[in-house]
Amino acid sequence: MADQGLMTRKSVDDIVKSGEAEGHKLSKTLGPFSITAMGIGAIIGAGIFVLTGTAAAQYAGPSIMLSFVLGGIVCGFVGLCYAELAAMLPVSGSSYTYTYATLGEIFAWMIGWDLVLEYAMGAATVAVGWSGYVSSILRDVGIVIPPTFAAATGTTVTLADGSTATAILNVPAALIIAAITALLIMGTKESARLNNIMVAVKLTVVVAFIALGAFYVNPANWHPFIPPSTGEFGHYGLSGILRGSAVVFFAFIGFDAVSCAAQEAQAPQRDMPIGILGSLAICTVLYIAVAAVLTGLVPYDQLNVSDPIAKGVDVIGLTWFSILIKIGALSGLTTVILVLLYGQSRIFLTMSQDGLLPRLFAHLHPTLNTPYRSQILIGVIVAAVAALVPINILGEMVSIGTLFAFILVCGAVIYLRRSAARAVRPFRVPGVPVVPIGGILFCLLLMSGLPLFTWLRLFIWMAAGLALYFVYGHRHSVLRHPERVQEPL
Ligand code: ALA
Repeated sequence: MADQGLMTRKSVDDIVKSGEAEGHKLSKTLGPFSITAMGIGAIIGAGIFVLTGTAAAQYAGPSIMLSFVLGGIVCGFVGLCYAELAAMLPVSGSSYTYTYATLGEIFAWMIGWDLVLEYAMGAATVAVGWSGYVSSILRDVGIVIPPTFAAATGTTVTLADGSTATAILNVPAALIIAAITALLIMGTKESARLNNIMVAVKLTVVVAFIALGAFYVNPANWHPFIPPSTGEFGHYGLSGILRGSAVVFFAFIGFDAVSCAAQEAQAPQRDMPIGILGSLAICTVLYIAVAAVLTGLVPYDQLNVSDPIAKGVDVIGLTWFSILIKIGALSGLTTVILVLLYGQSRIFLTMSQDGLLPRLFAHLHPTLNTPYRSQILIGVIVAAVAALVPINILGEMVSIGTLFAFILVCGAVIYLRRSAARAVRPFRVPGVPVVPIGGILFCLLLMSGLPLFTWLRLFIWMAAGLALYFVYGHRHSVLRHPERVQEPL
């Protein structure tokens, strides 16, 4: 079986079998609770703790609640598609694997490459948000991190004396990536345990904010519910709700990371749909409630700050609660980084098993059973990006890359219903093809809200990926060259 052309596909049966064969090497330690917690761990983070306020102030006003509803619907459609595929093809590669079975190898590679934007760049984005929050907490207790060492290289920062300077490196962002990388190397079970604790902390904080804040809401702040458009697209009015959705979409990213844990789940056919849809549903309800309470507490035009939830708490007037909120936010951001870095290494692991990446990415530690070499390499690169690149550029790249992957996942459901009609589907998306097509159209709608430069960067990124495929993956693919199958290093 030499070169079979670029459309080389994997059969669904082969994927399931290889997943079972490879899966025994990883430890099957995750139950439905840990998997749902992993989903929530990846979802609630910078989106709700940072972006909600900015999006309400600049784009949607109190109708940011509707932006969250729209974001929830989009992700609900996509989440149903992920649930079907993750239960049907329980291997670690997420949308990479689903694309291998539908559009073929070259597209699978491209989507794997695209997922780097969602996972690795997503982790870098949230690490930058983490750096902002930790600087703020440390300042509260009298420890000041020099601003030139807590922002992206070349950005302008304001010093304590009011003068400005050019930032050198974002050191805290790089340090949190290093610390979480070390934890992930120690073991999946250990990481999941810490994740569960931190998810509990952030959930408690979010629920407490909703419950306490509801008593202090001033309904006058909700009027006008949809502020009149300024005439510029995306600034209030109906287009503002759409722009708001494109921004808060970031808050939903992560539910799909659950699919990366398929080979470490005790019963993936049952746990994948529970984890994906359960975490998504819980977070959507919480987000809409947080948005309602926040815009009810603070007039929306005052919410353009880096810690909007803490600002909401200031209205309640409980100092201790404000500190708790910051701790909750920090836990939230930490778990998002943890799950995204974990997901990235598992996607690379699957790509390496297919021969599209060097064998180093599939090498497991003899006793810890984690892909430690890959995790270290990912950690070094993500730490460098987090230290050097500003958050807005990173965030938009993450959104466009993720939406692109979501479109292919929805398409894969429709395709596989025909090409692998008899495959076992423990979970089925209702209303095919309406639901997947709805998912595709909604993703395109949100992508249309992103700036031209972001599209350009996506094209450059994908072109670089294509070049890499022909330099390496095409020559080493196990599917094309089965004689080259080798054990990992
Ligand atoms: N959904 C994640 C966050 O908001 C990426 O931080």
